[in-house]
Amino acid sequence: MIKFSHDFLWGASTSAHQVEGGNIHNDWWQAEQGGVLKEASSQACRHYELYAEDFAIAKELGHNCHRFSIEWSRIEPQEGVFQDSEIEHYHKVIAELKSRGIEPVVTLHHFTNPVWFSQRGGWTKLKLQRYFLRFVEKMAKEFSSVVKFWVTINEPLVYSSHSYLLGVWPPGERSLFKTVKVTLNLAQAHIQAYRIIHKVYQDKKLERPMVSIAANLQAFELCRPTLKNKLAVYLRHKLYNLYFIEALLRKRTLDYIGINYYGRNLADVENWGIRHLLLDTCKYNHHPLRKNSLGWDIYPQGLYKLLILLKKYSLPILITENGVCTEDDDLKWDYIRGHLEQLNKSIEEGVNVFGYIYWSLIDNFEWDKGFGPRFGLVHIDYQNQKRTIRASARKLAEVSKSGLI
Ligand code: GAL
Repeated sequence: MIKFSHDFLWGASTSAHQVEGGNIHNDWWQAEQGGVLKEASSQACRHYELYAEDFAIAKELGHNCHRFSIEWSRIEPQEGVFQDSEIEHYHKVIAELKSRGIEPVVTLHHFTNPVWFSQRGGWTKLKLQRYFLRFVEKMAKEFSSVVKFWVTINEPLVYSSHSYLLGVWPPGERSLFKTVKVTLNLAQAHIQAYRIIHKVYQDKKLERPMVSIAANLQAFELCRPTLKNKLAVYLRHKLYNLYFIEALLRKRTLDYIGINYYGRNLADVENWGIRHLLLDTCKYNHHPLRKNSLGWDIYPQGLYKLLILLKKYSLPILITENGVCTEDDDLKWDYIRGHLEQLNKSIEEGVNVFGYIYWSLIDNFEWDKGFGPRFGLVHIDYQNQKRTIRASARKLAEVSKSGLI
């Protein structure tokens, strides 16, 4: 039998643009109107209005924490114009969680940017960072008395690679130079944001907050043991998994390590070009594993391997996302149970993991993939916005409530 400690955090995550609906002032909405994306987010899950209903479900499922993001473009739809009514909205969201004994974990950047910010060059321009930092300071001042856990930036490398290397997310560019620039600028932004948040808490004489990023980690594995593949796995692990974490650790700007883990990346490289080394994966289904509905390899052991590697940093770890999109609810439960088993194994071997946050509480808008992939613990009927709790969610609830598998 597996046992988790009684103070372990159990919860699920969402992000504003994926669930709220009507985020008309951000760059994603703008791109969606341009028709280049598969689907538009439009009303999404109407979580902006239905959050209390959704949190009642989270409570029923035994959650004691919940991760969500504050939408910058709602707070500051035009440069320098801050909307008190939207700040008030997030006060209500947090109060609703707290009244149910659910600890908020607040993300400040989850892929979307205000249109005015992206039109001026967004994260490619270091000098524009001050706008994000002004927003961060405002949010820290507003919410410091009710929020302990912060995620400054969600998956910086997923953002920079999808938006500037692969070109599949706004602004749709394909430039290695800009990808590097944006990545470095995001690291800088986190370092400054971390210091700003801590200063706000110090000035108000509040207990130290816990500030981190949510880093997307992948289990990079070899397809065939060629030299090219070995170099690819080495580079991907160093750059993709560790670059950010190590850069922020050097500046002492992580209070915990937030990790988002989904599965395996099986490297099989066609030639020595840098894009190939960084991106090519096996096309022939060698070493087959079960897959989610987007074709991603399900690989719970990868989570264990990564957690063991992260142990050397001696920081507490929070699983800020882990999840599967599938129509097969038995597979969903297998995925969750498999990852919890590996997580527990790492805890037994001395890794300090203090919480597990599933992606996602509800089915939602999966970026360029639209509404097809279903990651939720809760099914959404997009015709009428009806919420239905999946059986897998109830099984996870048993674990959250008892700490036992
Ligand atoms: C993460 C991201 C989420 C969600 C999830 C499933 O990379 O933070 O927004 O989309 O993947 O793909």
